Amino acid sequence: MRRPVTRRESIRTMGVLVGGAFFPWSEWARDEAGRPLILPREEERGQPERPITAITLGAGARGNIYGNYALEYPEQIRIVGVAEPVPIRRERYMRDHGIPEEAAFVTWEHVFQRPKFADAIIIATPDDLHYGPCMEALRLGYDILLEKPISPSEAECLEILERTRETGRIVAVCHVLRFAPYFERLRELVQSGAIGRLVSIQHFEPIEHVHMAHSFVRGNWHDSVATAPIILAKSSHDLDILRWIVGRESEAIQAFGDLSWFRRENAPEGSTARCMDGCAVEAQCPYSALRIYHRNRQRLHVFDLPDEPELQEGAILEALRTTDYGRCVYRMENDQCDHYVANIRFRDGITAAFSMEAFTPWGGRRTRIMGSMGYIEGDMRQMEIHDFRTREHTVLETRTLELEQVRGDGHGGGDWRLMANWVRAVAEQDVSILTSSLDASVESHVMAFAAERSRLQGTVEPIRV
Ligand SMILES: NC(=O)c1ccc[n+]([C@@H]2O[C@H](COP(=O)([O-])OP(=O)(O)OC[C@H]3O[C@@H](n4cnc5c(N)ncnc54)[C@H](O)[C@@H]3O)[C@@H](O)[C@H]2O)c1
Repeated sequence: MRRPVTRRESIRTMGVLVGGAFFPWSEWARDEAGRPLILPREEERGQPERPITAITLGAGARGNIYGNYALEYPEQIRIVGVAEPVPIRRERYMRDHGIPEEAAFVTWEHVFQRPKFADAIIIATPDDLHYGPCMEALRLGYDILLEKPISPSEAECLEILERTRETGRIVAVCHVLRFAPYFERLRELVQSGAIGRLVSIQHFEPIEHVHMAHSFVRGNWHDSVATAPIILAKSSHDLDILRWIVGRESEAIQAFGDLSWFRRENAPEGSTARCMDGCAVEAQCPYSALRIYHRNRQRLHVFDLPDEPELQEGAILEALRTTDYGRCVYRMENDQCDHYVANIRFRDGITAAFSMEAFTPWGGRRTRIMGSMGYIEGDMRQMEIHDFRTREHTVLETRTLELEQVRGDGHGGGDWRLMANWVRAVAEQDVSILTSSLDASVESHVMAFAAERSRLQGTVEPIRV
């Protein structure tokens, strides 16, 4: 989705309050689902002597979120090149960032045929196109912002890790939840001993049924073999956040999960291959493409709609006639689990029970943390802290403003704060600044691969990084 570029001075800001700190977000800055982004704190942005320069590979949803950071903070980072095969996306990105023809490419390979011409590369290509550009970028000496998953292959993840260590380059993985003020506070509480000794965690990842249908039944991630299994594609964030909160290595994992509902045998009588083909149950179907994209106008960023409002309705209907987004959810070639549970054992006997569920009315995350002296329960909007010693019960509000769009901010403000952290690390050439370095991130991926082996083979898998 396009956002108008306004002068920074003219941006009206609002914000959220987390444990006393105020995080503003700009009026126009939105993530891929149109939710507002929380701006990073002043000290997190630093003041580089000159802006770093970067080339974006993949000008899709994520490439634009990171690109928009550069538009908001031109004194921090400038985007000087782009590789994107879809012409309208490439042209819009060139226009937004003032990228000349000679620095705009159809595919990532072309970027590396030229000598290095920026400080860094932003890899926001599809999952199976992370390894190639990452290895090339390391070869040419670029620093890197790497979208998760690092790679859908465990061997490639470890190869990237090894190469990064050899080159000493700065590589951040986009585990954006680490940067959400809510999760920062949760971790701080656990690690400061606010609930005594950490004993166990229950962590719930509700995907939300429409999001599931959009991304993992009809959309880019419907095929776990061509992209990545959902435990990696979606839940590597959660495995990462669990590992980060626990602060100890994971030792073993056991998983179960299945694709229960979005299957041909569950197609209702009278349903058709496409929702617009006269499906008899379209009006009642919660997964109807007409209902989601046409009537409710949800998740339209995938359609590259024309800028002219009067042309948009026709473009949506045409997309529903011709793309996978218009097909019946029961007749896709999808194989991703719609429910997935995993038990994890960390060092010192700490355990975590993780559950990813498609069939929920909302997304976000819900977590319960049990300690020897207390208990925390949070849902990204607020957290309740019980201290068994004092019998005190404290409630921290993540969002004090009662605005619907604020409640919808799925990454809890993490996207741009991750960018701020990475930009500062690159500007200062100091990998220790990174919260989400490759070293710190790879374990979540190894956990996900082990979970998949466990799920498919019925084993308890050791986790070895
Ligand atoms: N960190 C997060 O929270 C988060 C959230 C969503 C997606 N992701 C990850 O980010 C990545 C991008 O996801 P997205 O939602 O932006 O997808 P997207 O489809 O919107 O964007 C990917 C872009 O890459 C382009 N592309 C395809 N082949 C290319 C090539 N050879 N060279 C250059 N560009 C190419 C596509 O045309 C597309 O525009 C994926 O790996 C995804 O898993 C991360």
